[in-house]
Amino acid sequence: MALLFSSKSDDVDRWRDILARELPDLDFRQWTPALDDVGDPADIEYVLAWGPKPGAFMGFPNLKCIFSLGAGVDHLIGRDLPPNVPVVRLMDPGLTRGMREYVLYWVLHHHRRFADYAEGQNKNRWQQYGQADTRTRRIGILGLGVLGLDAAAKLAALEFDVAGWSRSPKEVDGITTFHGKDGLTDFLCRTEILVCLLPLTPDTAGIINTETLSQLPSGAVVINAARGGHVVDDDLIRALDSGHVSAAVLDVFHTEPLPPEHPFWDHPKVTVTPHIASLTMPETAALVVADNIRRIRTGQPPEPIVDPETGY
Ligand code: NAP
Ligand code: GLV
Repeated sequence: MALLFSSKSDDVDRWRDILARELPDLDFRQWTPALDDVGDPADIEYVLAWGPKPGAFMGFPNLKCIFSLGAGVDHLIGRDLPPNVPVVRLMDPGLTRGMREYVLYWVLHHHRRFADYAEGQNKNRWQQYGQADTRTRRIGILGLGVLGLDAAAKLAALEFDVAGWSRSPKEVDGITTFHGKDGLTDFLCRTEILVCLLPLTPDTAGIINTETLSQLPSGAVVINAARGGHVVDDDLIRALDSGHVSAAVLDVFHTEPLPPEHPFWDHPKVTVTPHIASLTMPETAALVVADNIRRIRTGQPPEPIVDPETGY
């Protein structure tokens, strides 16, 4: 029985070592463009993948599961995958901790106006700005899944006024919840710092656009740590230029790496980070994958399986 590692990730040796320690009988094979290391396709029972070519896994008759190397599965869904083989998102406590840090860091940065103080220091200027009370600062999280719920709970623990938006209704202690298309406007109207942690699906693509941005209060901040496809870039730039949105922190982009000529790079109100909000770390993620393989071997379903209907 073999696992095929199908990614250009530099972390392949760490994955191989940890999986060998966790599952000594698992034959770890690495994908190469010539597929010459795959060996007998009938050996492949598991694939661990990021961004494969469409149809790449069609020739494995004994494939039991496709594991995503990340929480998002937009790099897999719609890529001509073998039917009836479950696709499993990465639900990894290490990934959750990383995203929590990114969200808290940038929320606090904007809540406390640290960019303005940095600019003050650049100009040798001693200037204090008024401070908004944490309890009156309204944060809104688009997506109350594994990552969104965690970030929301940690922000609520700091006593921010936190709301979240999801597809299905939810009741979460200490967080105001909204759901569905009907709940979006009310959610946006009360959101001063918007954090996007949605999966990219046909329903969520382009959700940050002129219409939704205009529903945020004037001066709102946008933090997108989900996928570039959630943002209509020109609409966000227009909202920043008009002053309606005061700042944006963007980790993800339609094209990655972000092309050097893209206006986000030099925009004075945009912070660009290179898709590092939360990186998959083999030290935590491989344990999750190994647990799921043990589950499959003992007849239990791996988790969480992507719903082909919703795409996440
Ligand atoms: P998840 O657990 O699947 O949660 C997704 C959330 O989005 C759920 O609350 C879901 O609502 C909501 N949602 C989905 N479609 C919706 C719709 N049409 N309308 C309203 N709400 C909708 O996902 P996750 O593990 O938290 O990850 C979220 C995303 O973060 C990933 O898909 C990935 O793109 C991104 N990510 C980025 C990085 C990075 O480094 N930048 C790292 C990791 C992940 P329900 O609860 O009702 O289902
Ligand atoms: C990273 O973008 C992920 O989906 O884990």
